[in-house]
Amino acid sequence: MTVNTKRLHVITWGCQMNVYDSGRMADVLAPLGYAPTELPEGADMVILNTCHIRDKAAEKVFSELGRLRLLKLAREAEGRKMILAVAGCVAQAEGAEILARAPYVDIVLGPQTYHRLPEMVARASRAAGAVIDTEFPAEQKFDFLPDAAAPQGVTAFLTIQEGCDKFCSFCVVPYTRGAEASRPAADVIAEARRMVDLGAREITLLGQNVNAWHGTGADGLAGLVRLLAEIDGLARIRYTTSHPRDMDDALIAAHAEIPALMPFLHLPVQSGSDRILAAMNRKHTADEYRALIGKLRAARPDLALSSDFIVGHPGETEQDFEATMQLIRDIGFAQAFTFKYSPRPGTPAAGAGMQVPEAEKDRRIYAVQALLREQQAAFNAQCVGLTIPVLVTGPGRHAGQIGGRSPWLQPVHAIGPVSLAGQVVEMTVTASHTNSLTAILKQERICA
Ligand code: 5AD
Ligand code: SF4
Repeated sequence: MTVNTKRLHVITWGCQMNVYDSGRMADVLAPLGYAPTELPEGADMVILNTCHIRDKAAEKVFSELGRLRLLKLAREAEGRKMILAVAGCVAQAEGAEILARAPYVDIVLGPQTYHRLPEMVARASRAAGAVIDTEFPAEQKFDFLPDAAAPQGVTAFLTIQEGCDKFCSFCVVPYTRGAEASRPAADVIAEARRMVDLGAREITLLGQNVNAWHGTGADGLAGLVRLLAEIDGLARIRYTTSHPRDMDDALIAAHAEIPALMPFLHLPVQSGSDRILAAMNRKHTADEYRALIGKLRAARPDLALSSDFIVGHPGETEQDFEATMQLIRDIGFAQAFTFKYSPRPGTPAAGAGMQVPEAEKDRRIYAVQALLREQQAAFNAQCVGLTIPVLVTGPGRHAGQIGGRSPWLQPVHAIGPVSLAGQVVEMTVTASHTNSLTAILKQERICA
């Protein structure tokens, strides 16, 4: 991550514990570009690390805050920001009073939450309208996209959302990509139309947290998909990547009601252990994920699922890992991505204790991949004998072959004319492989 150096001034009252904590807070902010400075004047952030033991501790904090407020105002007059944080025991005991009496304070944090400081700083800079070097202001984000859709072929990607407000413990995206921002529906629809004019038949809507889309002109992602489904010539719509917590009933209903919305969903769960899901700050349990999948499958019985899994998140025990394996067995995935946890500077998990040894991560990823490979092979095998609609994308790998995509995102190969590119044709699956299917054109079978 490349960030400009920002100045951090920490005022510490009280015991050795507080002195130690002040050091830790400076440490967790260093990867965000904050370097200590001796004076509050000119600081981008000031932390008051408070102590409750002495008499009138709170009064001292308020008088210091009054002084800092003047610095903050002076800085704002220059068009710059100063994030003001109150930490330590006074914050813990009197957080509400601090915010009531000193509303210009940006962050109040108790001693148990220092590891979340990078998240709080990122949120505070957004709320203040400040720009972290790595973050674009929302309205400018999409200006970087080319005006006219570049031809991408039969299948195209369209970015509709960027950034993330979820702050999963392991993930750097909320810091590097900034706050969630959504493109207006009118822009998305205009770009989709251009893509279709250029030959696209399938569009995959992209975003780090795509199902949190909340742009103007449509009611959530479900509403946007409904509008896109009306575009003539657009046969298929997909979206990725989604967070389970943003999978609302309207979007589930869209899977039941909109034929163009393909029956394949990438919905990362990361872990099957409630303990690890909590440590990851995912804000849902394994059973809530199971229930969500139940609802989705009730809405669209042929829905195939994909997911992301991280093994070896700090604190993951053998029992936690087994819970992930059990979740996979319970749900059954058509495909999935697996990752060994690796620390990203500036994220809460990177500084956490109980890191899992590399050899153990290796063992776990091997086991989880073996199980997922088995499920993928079984999913592909059950397609054999079915006649399915395949979107032909172009020539296949071998002479005389065409390639295409099943509704469930499997690559399909068949003998046939390239002139079919861009059409959805019925094919009968004759063989399955780990990552693809072989098929014959339906008409060919009838003639044979
Ligand atoms: N270590 C391992 N995997 C990670 N991912 C994100 N951050 C990390 C990390 N620090 C994975 C998650 C996410 C996917 C895109 O990358 O599973 O869903
Ligand atoms: Fe956001 Fe996904 Fe990263 Fe979590 S893993 S913080 S939801 S981008």
